[in-house]
Amino acid sequence: MSNKEPILSLIDVKFEHKLRSGRTLPIFNNINLSVHYTEFLGIVGPSGCGKTTLLRIMAGLVRPTSGRVIFRGEELTEPNPRISLMYQNPTLIPWLSIWDNVYLAISSRKEMSEIEKREKTSLFIDLVGLSGYESAYPAELSGGMKQRVALARALVTSPDLLLLDEPFSNLDPLTAINLIREVENMWLDASLPPASIVMVSHSIEEVVQLADRVLVLKGRPAEIIAELRVELERPRNRKSDEFYRYVDEIFTLVS
Ligand SMILES: Nc1ncnc2c1ncn2[C@@H]1O[C@H](COP(=O)(O)OP(=O)(O)O)[C@@H](O)[C@H]1O
Ligand SMILES: [Mg+2]
Repeated sequence: MSNKEPILSLIDVKFEHKLRSGRTLPIFNNINLSVHYTEFLGIVGPSGCGKTTLLRIMAGLVRPTSGRVIFRGEELTEPNPRISLMYQNPTLIPWLSIWDNVYLAISSRKEMSEIEKREKTSLFIDLVGLSGYESAYPAELSGGMKQRVALARALVTSPDLLLLDEPFSNLDPLTAINLIREVENMWLDASLPPASIVMVSHSIEEVVQLADRVLVLKGRPAEIIAELRVELERPRNRKSDEFYRYVDEIFTLVS
């Protein structure tokens, strides 16, 4: 498949909640978007506008009310092992060690040998900066470290597409900045998964820090009201004037 094709497309996606009263609550009417290979796409929008719902549709966890989701040229109708979603509040299994929590994500993979699975588990624990903590349990870790375990768990399956739902929003700013750097470095390293990342966030700074392209989602039902390309060199300097010009521009669009 040519890399000029999008890795994922949403075509005329509509989604509504069925309420108990029998009424429907429209979340999206008509969303069209594409994620390209090797792209870091940011989606920003106010709380409650439908960002999590959109990611769950992209992950194949939720079927749209109408419209289609195309992943690598085929319609996506169920979760796909090549797509990983890291949840807003990731939960780890409390009675399993960090090593086992990560290993669990690939334990049932038939195409990998046992040695390969073990090597991958150790590699990704190392890449997220948790080597030395393999035998610790989730309760012994800080919030930032738990988030790192969740990231290792999302990446150990070698997904082509990583979907991040407000991955840094529950972290203190310093921890968030460090983790943002690591996500960026992993994505920049072509030898490591994932090829493409979609990150949704209500934090405009986070999105400008990481994304090549930003979509602004707004309204009820939500629409993509703007699209812009972030033409800043990496790693991006949050204190620069250009950085703030992007933040301001998006802030005006969102509010
Ligand atoms: N089970 C549900 N029934 C009805 N409405 C829901 C349900 N789940 C979520 N919603 C509504 O869908 C909207 C979008 O939710 P969500 O995708 O979580 O937004 P975001 O992630 O942007 O905060 C919210 O405004 C919420 O009110
Ligand atoms: Mg959400």
